[in-house]
Amino acid sequence: MTGPVLAVDQGTSGTKALVICPERGVIGSGSAPVRPRFGSGGVVEADPAELYGSVIDAGMRALAEAGEPVAAVGLANQGETVLAWDPDTGRPLTDAIVWQDRRAAGLCSELAVHEEELKAITGLPLDPYFAAPKMAWIRRELTREGVVTTSDSWLVHRLTGVFVTDAATAGRTQLLDLDRVGWSPAALDIFGLGGERLPSVVDAAGVFATTTAFGGELPLTGLLVDQQAALLAQSALEPGIAKCTYGTGAFLLAQTGPAPRRSSTGLVSCVAWRLGGQTSYCLDGQVYTAASAVRWLTDLKVISGGADLDPVGGSVPDSGGVTFVPALAGLAAPWWRGDLRGSVTGLSLDTTAGHLVRALCEGIAAQVAELAEAVAADLGARPGVLRVDGGLTRSALLMQTQADLLQRPVEVSALPDVTALGVGAVARLGLDPGLSLRQAVPDWEPAAVYEPRIGPAEAAERLAGFRAAVDTLLERS
Ligand code: G3P
Repeated sequence: MTGPVLAVDQGTSGTKALVICPERGVIGSGSAPVRPRFGSGGVVEADPAELYGSVIDAGMRALAEAGEPVAAVGLANQGETVLAWDPDTGRPLTDAIVWQDRRAAGLCSELAVHEEELKAITGLPLDPYFAAPKMAWIRRELTREGVVTTSDSWLVHRLTGVFVTDAATAGRTQLLDLDRVGWSPAALDIFGLGGERLPSVVDAAGVFATTTAFGGELPLTGLLVDQQAALLAQSALEPGIAKCTYGTGAFLLAQTGPAPRRSSTGLVSCVAWRLGGQTSYCLDGQVYTAASAVRWLTDLKVISGGADLDPVGGSVPDSGGVTFVPALAGLAAPWWRGDLRGSVTGLSLDTTAGHLVRALCEGIAAQVAELAEAVAADLGARPGVLRVDGGLTRSALLMQTQADLLQRPVEVSALPDVTALGVGAVARLGLDPGLSLRQAVPDWEPAAVYEPRIGPAEAAERLAGFRAAVDTLLERS
């Protein structure tokens, strides 16, 4: 019996917190928004003070709703967002450069000759999405002072004073030796980061330090990057189980077991989590814009928000010949063309908002289907079902489109956002090391299942249409 834990998920567009009781489940929840700033040249920045403030706000709201004390805190973080900060005072020296920011693209081009070496060491292709290019860019363009780390290390330092990062977050920097699960001097040298003071790489569960930020003194016992926390929460404990989280971006991860599986299809090979010194690995594919593409349509006033996807998309039977490649921040796996921009083709005078919405859903779902195919090629077997969570899973239109294009059932989580549940599970393990992983992780019980409603031939034709649109973008670039 360990008592409830406070699990905080610090994401790109907001922070969500849950108070999770081992016996009664979620007994309190809270959230606080974060507003990244978008600028020309691929700028995506967030105010570090807003990130930290949102962690405290969301956490305090969840605690107030629960109305009872918690035994520990867990923190999940957005993966590749970095900042420079003063390790003596904790003061930020730069804004947080968000994972979607593309300003390190030039630096990646300069380092292209090292790509194969970096892939072999870290499992990651060279792309400004990852933390190391952004860290090197900060050093080159913004400041040489202080330390430069992923946002989790800064948040944990502010909360507790210790200087750590979990192995899965470290695995998304492009500085971690994937086999040894330790910082790689060779990768650090390639990025010119050899002299940097780096956080200690820790397991996801443990007693890291204590914090008084949420009231009384509480141990911080769980730390895990958000997508991997969602993988854990979806009970992906055996190799081959895959999940997709439809958040700001969409991320498909498949558990691959205790040895890294280098991808031959352009997926990322990385750490799922390290617990008790044992590392589990996963393959990971990314769709850079999912909810942020919906937000973009909303900003353009085509729809008034995510809740409009189904009614507006449902006003027409199909996309009316419109194809939308929502590469609004470029394309990640398997293409790795962050420089590409989105396209909408097939417009006519009778194109409606409904057609655009359907084309967007199809564009997101087609990218996820591509990622699932890449996973299948790497693992030699297609995942039987796809477990999904994230705010966009509320759209039946998107989920049905996903099942159709995937030709596999899509199982939707009961709770829309499970990331906090995942980090809550590791926080429980940190508090009670006698617990097994199986005991700490909730059983997977989908609230809804979408079965494919079209046949393989139609799915293949629709995917081919999307691929042709991507090929056109590639040819033109
Ligand atoms: O890799 C980026 C990821 O960690 C961001 O997740 O939920 O903020 O879209 P989310």
